[in-house]
Amino acid sequence: MTRPNRLTELDVHLTAADAEAELRADARAGLTAVPKELPPKYFYDARGSELFEKITELPEYYPTRTERALLEESVAEIAEASGADTVVELGSGSSAKTRLLLDAFRATGSLRRYVPQDVSEAALRGALEALEGEYPDLELHGVVGDFTKDLAGLPTGGRRMIAFLGGTIGNLRPAERAAFLAHVRSVLEPGEQLLLGTGLVIDEPTLLAAYDDAAGVTAEFNRNVLYVLNRELHADFVPEAFAHVAAWEAEDEWIEMRLRAEKAMRVRVEELDLTVDFAEGEEMRTEISAKFRPEGVREMLAEAGFDLGRWWSDEDRRFALSLATAV
Ligand code: SAH
Ligand code: AVI
Repeated sequence: MTRPNRLTELDVHLTAADAEAELRADARAGLTAVPKELPPKYFYDARGSELFEKITELPEYYPTRTERALLEESVAEIAEASGADTVVELGSGSSAKTRLLLDAFRATGSLRRYVPQDVSEAALRGALEALEGEYPDLELHGVVGDFTKDLAGLPTGGRRMIAFLGGTIGNLRPAERAAFLAHVRSVLEPGEQLLLGTGLVIDEPTLLAAYDDAAGVTAEFNRNVLYVLNRELHADFVPEAFAHVAAWEAEDEWIEMRLRAEKAMRVRVEELDLTVDFAEGEEMRTEISAKFRPEGVREMLAEAGFDLGRWWSDEDRRFALSLATAV
């Protein structure tokens, strides 16, 4: 924090050393797998987080503005139904849309504390700095951590609502997603809530445009993972030699982002003492972004021990917000 505030805390649950050890293990496993694959959480260094914010403003990227409109429509009801004094947000990024929630919870008089958790320390610090000025009376408790591993360390006490927005749940594979939701349920008391944003299955052209925009911002976001490996692991990827690929996998109902080697390349990853060969045209998967059907959302929530109380969707059925209660 540039401006110390007695109401702001930042817990670093994921130290730089732990993050680096994990990156090494994930990069070694992913670059030696067939086919090659890298986990999407490594997009989000400071540059990647900024690129994501740019994506949210693109005309093709409908999820953010659709979810924002749904929040505008629903926040008063959510705040009323929840009565939480603590809003916890996982994968909070810039916390941009969260202000709608914070304002609505403040209006009911219940809100005391906001707990954003993100793997990106840069994004979290930026969000907290801005929020400190905007919400001087709110207790801010940031947590640098991985939401797939580190929920037990989140602050307890009070009555909590966990928000997981943006459709980020779609970036987890089905097994990870089920484990994640069960983990979220395990840290909540019966009666506490989960507010979940999910992208819905829609027509392929709209989906593909959202993940392959004309300005090339998503392509640069995708390639950013190679800059991260170059910097953190002293690799010598030539990012521009990889083409951005976005494909709709109809059977799985998810978008896949991949990086395609435009020519045969040998890449050295010095920190891993690893040499990796790419054949011309070889594709490495960097992200899935699953889209859901209403009954699928209800089922995955029920399987984890949540009762889906309220559901909001836009008129084109592109995105949904679910307010679920831990049973
Ligand atoms: N919730 C925001 C940001 C979505 S972008 C919105 O709706 O606009 C996804 C965010 O999740 C990024 O800020 C990224 O740093 C974070 N993230 C990705 N994987 C994560 C993980 N495993 N643990 C914690 N945060 C993660
Ligand atoms: C963060 N997450 C929900 C985004 C998505 O749509 O899957 C990440 C993203 N990838 C490409 N564009 C945006």
